Formats: sequence, structure tokens, C-alpha cells
Amino acid sequence: MKEKILQLLRRRGDYVSGQEMSRELQVSRTAVWKAVEALRQEGYEISSATNRGYRLESPTSMLSLPEIRAALEDHPWAERVCVLDTVDSTNTLCKTLAAQGAPEGTVIIADRQTAGRGRMGRTFYSPQGVGIYFSVILRPQAAPGELMHLTCAFAAAMCGAVERACGLRPGIKWTNDLILGNRKLAGILTELAIEAESGRIQHAVLGIGVNCCQKPEDFPEDVRDMACSLAMSLGKPADRNRLAAEMVRSAWELSEGLLTDKARWMEEYRRDCVTIGREIAVLRNGKARPGRALDVTSDGGLMVRYEDGTEEVVASGEVSVRGLYGYV
Ligand code: BTN
Repeated sequence: MKEKILQLLRRRGDYVSGQEMSRELQVSRTAVWKAVEALRQEGYEISSATNRGYRLESPTSMLSLPEIRAALEDHPWAERVCVLDTVDSTNTLCKTLAAQGAPEGTVIIADRQTAGRGRMGRTFYSPQGVGIYFSVILRPQAAPGELMHLTCAFAAAMCGAVERACGLRPGIKWTNDLILGNRKLAGILTELAIEAESGRIQHAVLGIGVNCCQKPEDFPEDVRDMACSLAMSLGKPADRNRLAAEMVRSAWELSEGLLTDKARWMEEYRRDCVTIGREIAVLRNGKARPGRALDVTSDGGLMVRYEDGTEEVVASGEVSVRGLYGYV
């Protein structure tokens, strides 16, 4: 009901009378009034004028489930989205829910994480009100070897979501950092549960944290030179609800073609991947070996030529890569 009202007000961009709303939504005018009041309580600025009705004054800066659902309209996963104010980690919660049988397309979005997790056991700083911390459960009918492209495909799908929501297409630093102008915009963490007997995948949890509204001084000093937000490129805060809705759409699109459109996802990934062609250092067991990134394989491995002419395909769990002249 609240979502429908928001949808109507957004679509119109002007006053909509209580009578029209009650007719369209087939509820009483009192029910409309109550829903508008509830939205106001949640922080929406909705003005009312005698004989004219209600008008939504400005899109909210809060992360809001009704707004996300309104933007998703009748999307098949709209009812599977949950927005939380605070959680330890959206990935951890999704893993728990998946183990309890939650369906594919269950999405947890949080405004803040107290124990956000990054790759290789690192923590992921997840402050309140400025980011999107997003995890989704997928249940691909596949063995792990058929899903080597999963993280890359998710990264490409998320670039599409940012582009549709904000008009900017991020690049990708191999394997799974979304970047804008040589700085990190988002990080991805993929986790799989595998059934011991069959060796098949029980579920995958794909998590992404996107910096949306930070100013440079909002980042901790040690990452300030390497990090960026959408707001820093847009010159205004990003609409987190619109972006979250596009992320759900992209995750759905990915789930639909994960096994059938592998080549297309990898082609998109290669187009976005800024690491290809760059001079990089491969970091392994505390040692940095310089070389040039030649390509990304269909399994998401990075093909590298070292200074002595030898070539190797490195896998993302095994090494990390940094630019020879900076983060990218
Ligand atoms: C990285 O950059 O190393 C990956 C960061 C992944 C962070 C996201 S935020 C949502 C989800 N929940 C987590 O605890 N981690 C991922």
C-alpha cells in the first residue's frame, strides 16, 4: 500500500487527490490518509493542500524499503527484499537465511554493518547513511567448476546497475573492485556453500558494498587516496534507493542467465576491466612480482606476462594485484 502510494506520487510529480488515490488503489480515503501519515513518520516529505491532495516534495535520502519496492514495481524479487538499519554483515545474515531455506532472490540491504567482511579475511568499513551494503542469495544448479565466472559476472552486472541508476559506468579492477577514476567505489565478496556428498552448490551469497554519498574527508585517512563515492563524481548525493532497486534487477538478470549467458557476461567484464593491458604487480606470500596483465580468461583468471617473458594465469583467491603506479 505505502509502495503503491509512493509510486503514484513519484509518477505524477505533482498533487494527487485523496479521492483519486483511493479509487486507483481501491481502498478507503481513511486508509490513504493513514498510509500517507505512516510515510511521513518514516521521513518522507509529503505536502497536502486543500482540494488538491498530496505531493511528494523530494526524494528521500534514507534507505527505504517502500522506495525500493516502488522503484521495482512488479519485479519478481520485489517481495524478497529486506532493508535493515544495522546488521553485523549482510553476507553473514544471507548465509544463515540460505541455510534455513530462504529462496533464491532473497536480498538483504543494510544502512550500516558492524562487522562488514571483505576478501581475504579483511574487514569492510561500513558506516551509516552513506553506502549500500547489499547481499543476495542465488541457488544455481551447478558444480563449483561451472561457476568460476560468478564473481566477474556479478561485477559486470553491478556496473550495469550503477550506470542505469546514476548515468556513470564504473570500471573494474580485477577481480572484483568497481572503480571510478582510479579509485575504489565498491568491493564484492562471493561465498559458496557446497554439499559434501554431491559436491554441488547449495547456495551462493553475493555481497557488494558501494560508496554512495561520502565526501573525501569521510573516508578513513589510510584509504582516502584510493577510495571514492558516487557523490564525488555526480556532485550530489546518489539516490541510494534507485540504485538498490537497479542492483536487485541486475542480480535477477544475472541469475536468469548465469549458466546460459556465461560468454556474454565475460565479454562485458572484459570491456569494463581496466586491469587488462596495465603494468601490475602480482602479490603472493608477501612478495610482489611485476608484469603486464594480458587478458582475463573465461574462468575469471588473470593472464599475466612477467618481466622475464614467462606467462601465468593467476586466480583471484590465490593472489592480489595492484597497479605498478598506484592502486589500479
Ligand atoms: C572487498 O573489497 O574486499 C569486498 C568487500 C565486500 C563488502 C560487502 S558489503 C555487503 C556484504 N557484506 C559483507 O560483510 N561484505 C559484503
